[in-house]
Amino acid sequence: MAHISEREHDLPDAVIAKLLRIAVEDKSVVSLGPGEPDMNMPQPIIEEVKRCASKSNHYSPPGGRIELREAIVKKLKKDNNIDANPDNIIVTTGSQEALLLATACSLDVSEQVIIPDPSFLGYLPTFELFNAFPIALELKPEDNWNINPDAMKKLIDKKKTKAILINSPSNPTGNVLPKKILEEIADIAVDNNLYIFSDEAYEKLIYDKKHFSIGALNGMKNNVVTLQTFSKSYAMCGYRVGYAVGPSPLIEAMKKIHIYSTLCAPTISQMVAVKALSLNKSYIDKMVNEYDRRRKMIVKGLNQIGLDTVTPNGAFYTFSDISHLSDDSFKFSYDLLNNGKVAVVPGREFGRFGEGFIRCSYATDYKKIEEALRRIDRFVSKTS
Ligand SMILES: Cc1ncc(COP(=O)(O)O)c(C=O)c1O
Repeated sequence: MAHISEREHDLPDAVIAKLLRIAVEDKSVVSLGPGEPDMNMPQPIIEEVKRCASKSNHYSPPGGRIELREAIVKKLKKDNNIDANPDNIIVTTGSQEALLLATACSLDVSEQVIIPDPSFLGYLPTFELFNAFPIALELKPEDNWNINPDAMKKLIDKKKTKAILINSPSNPTGNVLPKKILEEIADIAVDNNLYIFSDEAYEKLIYDKKHFSIGALNGMKNNVVTLQTFSKSYAMCGYRVGYAVGPSPLIEAMKKIHIYSTLCAPTISQMVAVKALSLNKSYIDKMVNEYDRRRKMIVKGLNQIGLDTVTPNGAFYTFSDISHLSDDSFKFSYDLLNNGKVAVVPGREFGRFGEGFIRCSYATDYKKIEEALRRIDRFVSKTS
């Protein structure tokens, strides 16, 4: 008998995994599915992996090696204008673990957290796993996918709401929240005594705009948990290393649960992460320039095909309107995969307000994106 808990049953199945499996197995498919960089890690990081290989077989102290936490303190000051010390930083197995720990330590059963919708598909199940209650804040293309602070205020329940999650630059919309909106969100959090979980996974992958960390705003030290990662900026997804900086009591609590979840982030990844933080900016600039070149091409192409697409200012995704062609983004994506041989992610994967859209990732070779656009064009012409 295979008993599976109700907790697991209640979690949504990630359709993206199924779609991407088909995309990988069928070599004739061009995939705009993946949510990870297609580029290699910078060469100095590869060299550092070799150098550390024989010295990294031990567990690290739970919460992170001190050398890395000290390097993160400097990075947070320099890049994000956040004042931290090694004690209010926890290094985790990717930033996804940091969100999971923050949830476990700050939200009791049925307490509410406001999340943007559409947003990263990892959020909702994480909150549901801990029986917290996510409240969807609708984002709209006509607002450039920005959060509307007045709409956010209306969702707050004085007794039940405990946290707000924000993600800038955003997956899947590419939105970068302007400082003014961040200030309004900060005021809402302070007035209502809420945590802000600020997911900044794509902080370095940004075009035309500047990334601003809400944790840098005056008086936000006790409210903001900033989540950052090495996955996207350094193409280190597989190394599974991220971190959170936040109020010391919460970070201490997270360290306790961390011991029972993964014990520590991989030691080799933490050693290599120190090297990543010391790299010259030119390594990231090179990646960003290439994403930018693809971004300009894909946004133009999708709009020409008639799939309205707001120009993303960060990350490596476009989020395009298909509502004139289909009211079911799952079916649309499956048909496009089977008949058009292009893999994209259905918008509903990112929340109910993502219905009517598809996400394309441009973390894919330039020529492949061109081919995908030709195929989408043919498919759309036949569908409409
Ligand atoms: C918005 C966002 N946050 C967090 C993550 C998870 O990142 P990590 O590899 O640090 O766990 C992802 C991964 O795709 C993401 O898109």
